[in-house]
Amino acid sequence: MDIIEIIEHKRDGLALTDEEIHYFIKNYVSGEVKEYQASALLMAIYLRGMNDHETATLTDEMRKSGDVFDLSDIPGLLVDKHSTGGVGDKVSLILGPMVASCGARLAKMSGRGLGHTGGTLDKLESIPGMRVILSEEEFKKQVTNVGMAIIGQNERLDPADKKLYALRDVTATIGSIPLIASSIMSKKLASGADCILLDVKYGSGAFMKTLEDAERLALTMVNIGRKLGKNVKAEVTDMDQPLGMAVGNNLEIKEVIDILKGRGSEDLRNLCLDSGSVMLVQAKLYEDEEEARKALIKNLDNGKAFEKFVEFVKAQGGDTNYILHPEKFEVAKHIIPIYSSKAGYVNRIDALIIGVSSMHLGGGREKLDDVIDMSAGIVLNKKVGDEVKEGELLATLYTNKENTEEIEAKVVTAFDISVHKVIKKKENLLIQ
Ligand code: URA
Repeated sequence: MDIIEIIEHKRDGLALTDEEIHYFIKNYVSGEVKEYQASALLMAIYLRGMNDHETATLTDEMRKSGDVFDLSDIPGLLVDKHSTGGVGDKVSLILGPMVASCGARLAKMSGRGLGHTGGTLDKLESIPGMRVILSEEEFKKQVTNVGMAIIGQNERLDPADKKLYALRDVTATIGSIPLIASSIMSKKLASGADCILLDVKYGSGAFMKTLEDAERLALTMVNIGRKLGKNVKAEVTDMDQPLGMAVGNNLEIKEVIDILKGRGSEDLRNLCLDSGSVMLVQAKLYEDEEEARKALIKNLDNGKAFEKFVEFVKAQGGDTNYILHPEKFEVAKHIIPIYSSKAGYVNRIDALIIGVSSMHLGGGREKLDDVIDMSAGIVLNKKVGDEVKEGELLATLYTNKENTEEIEAKVVTAFDISVHKVIKKKENLLIQ
């Protein structure tokens, strides 16, 4: 067997055998298969696709390419959650303390932001002192004692994905269902939780642009997890407008605090309640989602979810003064209001434009080694369905950069204002 033959098979639309997939992953990780050969195979997979069996085999080979965490000595069923990435998506930081305050144990590995999508690790690092790299022992101890830990990916975990993801990023092969499914599921399966909830985003700010593609991706990942004996469920949720009000690192942490204190925007609170209810049932802590939801609402109202967040930040070395007094967070030098030039109703807020603009204001990185400005970003004042008067505030930009006129003009174009009343009613789907 050789790599050229494998590339030819996929190029010609054949299904790869288990042996061919094993050969590719093993020899790519060891460096035997070159980057240009892997690029060709990735493009062939992107164009020709993979059937369910090939995708499951690819996932399993990637999972086995490095360490697999053994968390079996932590009592109870461990839960994990993963979003396919979006704009303003700070759900894990809210959901973790919510479910942990109800007795669940969240063992989560998160990533950094790239391009227009934010990363949970960057948001966490906007809290001074916060450590996102823990040893396996520290991670286990914190999950056991605090009920949650969120850390960066261990260097030795899923090295196949680390290499493949970096290559896909520069070869226009990210947006492929088998490649995304294997990338996400191999990491989730290697990191050891028993129950996994996936949040598959669709819309302008997501990798999947249509509901149909998001459903296909969700179903592919649920089937892979099930084949490998895990309790996996997937929500398919809309990313046609940013999630919540804030986009940008410390701005999002302030919004996390707001939601955990029982305030904040309805869309974000509801998604956290929906996801949390599913997770508490997956972890067998509640029989049905209705009961689980009541428990989550109770802990938002009585402050227990917020207390759990403070405990988590403290355990990972973060300065809890910032959580107790969010006005301590650094505020950007320039605060720029964006006003509406017309009256009507917000029909759409292009999440991609908001995400890219936030990145250009300093809140994200275009290249992996860019340094993020933790105080930069955008806070929305209006969401889809809201009425707007002429001259009313649509959003506020936060930046330390000068000469941002072009970005300001771009943010205005993200808002589609209609003269007709807009009813925002999109149900999230649960695939199980
Ligand atoms: N997130 C991942 O971890 N991998 C992908 O391919 C896409 C989103």
